Amino acid sequence: MPPLDLVTIEHSPQKEVLIQPAAEVSFPLSHEEQQLIKEMKELVLKLDAVGLAAPQVGVGKQIIVYTIDEDAKTLRGAEKVVPPTVLINPSYTPLQDATLTYDWEGCFSVDETTGTVPRYDKISYTAQTPEGKTFTATAEGFVARVLQHEIDHIKGILILNRFSAESIKGHPDEMLPLRYKHFTPQQKEALRRILAKKEKTIDPTNLAAKQRIEKIRQLLDEE
Ligand code: NI
Repeated sequence: MPPLDLVTIEHSPQKEVLIQPAAEVSFPLSHEEQQLIKEMKELVLKLDAVGLAAPQVGVGKQIIVYTIDEDAKTLRGAEKVVPPTVLINPSYTPLQDATLTYDWEGCFSVDETTGTVPRYDKISYTAQTPEGKTFTATAEGFVARVLQHEIDHIKGILILNRFSAESIKGHPDEMLPLRYKHFTPQQKEALRRILAKKEKTIDPTNLAAKQRIEKIRQLLDEE
């Protein structure tokens, strides 16, 4: 298999995969599906991302990977650290006492817009493990947000479809100052470590990504 490539809604010829519902996966997984999962887990760590769905790498299947490391937990106020976890055919429903809350989201499939997205603060979700075992669990706060974002991907829904009239949204270059000025010192330190990790893995020819990292550093050094 060639290395996985990220599909973006603005720039990829195969962008249709991002806006179509993905196909249900049957068990046992094929060798190809197992290989895809292995590579998605590697990619989510390499990108220092919290989640990745198969359509984002051009594969229209209901497979997501998510993970929250110590720095992401601090940065986003998550309840817990989550090791890289694979969910197959996942779906969610809000819990009865759930409310919609707004927080910043970006997406590897959407280069030119970031913003605050309304998500349920408590969900129940059902999925299958790579071994084909079905389970139901609940999630809260940032973990619930990540799961809703990734499950949206397998339904062909992007953050662009989730912004409401109350969302703050725009080009990342314009949104960065709004986003980072309210950070606590602990959040700023976590973000500095995340930037250092990202800097090591980005393609050296990706000048836009390098410039964005520099811009965030400058913003963090202000005040
Ligand atoms: Ni995304």
